[in-house]
Amino acid sequence: MAQFNLPKNSKIIKGNYFKDLTGSKNIKKVNIYRWDPDKNENPKIDTFEVDIEKCGSKVLDILNKIKNEIDSSLTYRRSCAHGVCGSCAMNVDGVNTLSCLKSHKDISGEINIYPLPHLKVIKDLVADLSSLYRQYESIEPWLKIKEKKSQENEINQLKEDRKKLDGLYECIMCACCSTACPSYWWNGEKYLGPAVLLQAYRWIIDSRDEERKERLNIIADKLKLYRCHTIMNCTNSCPKGLNPAKAISSLKKMLATN
Ligand code: SF4
Ligand code: SF4
Ligand code: FES
Repeated sequence: MAQFNLPKNSKIIKGNYFKDLTGSKNIKKVNIYRWDPDKNENPKIDTFEVDIEKCGSKVLDILNKIKNEIDSSLTYRRSCAHGVCGSCAMNVDGVNTLSCLKSHKDISGEINIYPLPHLKVIKDLVADLSSLYRQYESIEPWLKIKEKKSQENEINQLKEDRKKLDGLYECIMCACCSTACPSYWWNGEKYLGPAVLLQAYRWIIDSRDEERKERLNIIADKLKLYRCHTIMNCTNSCPKGLNPAKAISSLKKMLATN
């Protein structure tokens, strides 16, 4: 049987151990993936003993505490801290999630934190999302209407049409779903993935948009859409409780019946 080994410099090694200095009785061990492109070193796992007594309840609070009090070089993205911006997506305890929504109290034992899987790492917990953003741009995620209409102040929408966007407009493009999708892992260059396809569907069914046909043509492609094999990892991993797998099925159905 063929055997594959990782190149030496990509093997994850044991990193530094940061012992608690507070004497707290309520300590949580947190293992975090670290990699610095400016150092010619292997990625490593650093372990931090964190005083949970004096820490907010979310995983993001732990990261902020480590950055503020233990190691200021720890690098991760975050902004809103309320599950709105999507920037703090990472893999916590083996699951892609938003660290600002994930309670560390739900995790028994040590906490393991990695960047979103199957993407290039920029530094520590920051994964490179440029390819996903290019794909997002390719589906032209904005309202397309005829010139005359666009000069009107308001473009009205019936309540029942607006309701059709529920479960779609809430997507914050955090990429938890796409980076949990095996088809996206192996074909991420060509397959659009669940996050972008959910967004494509959101614009296709918007009653105000006038380019439904053109939009469908953009995604009607063996690789861009039909690489989805309905494995459902995407829906299971969405921290906003959305259902990208259903949106993809609806797209396939629209194409089959149009
Ligand atoms: S569908 Fe959910 S997991 Fe996927 S990008 Fe949108 S909010 Fe994130
Ligand atoms: S249902 Fe489709 S998009 Fe979702 S994880 Fe499976 S293959 Fe990926
Ligand atoms: S920091 Fe904005 S979603 Fe977590």
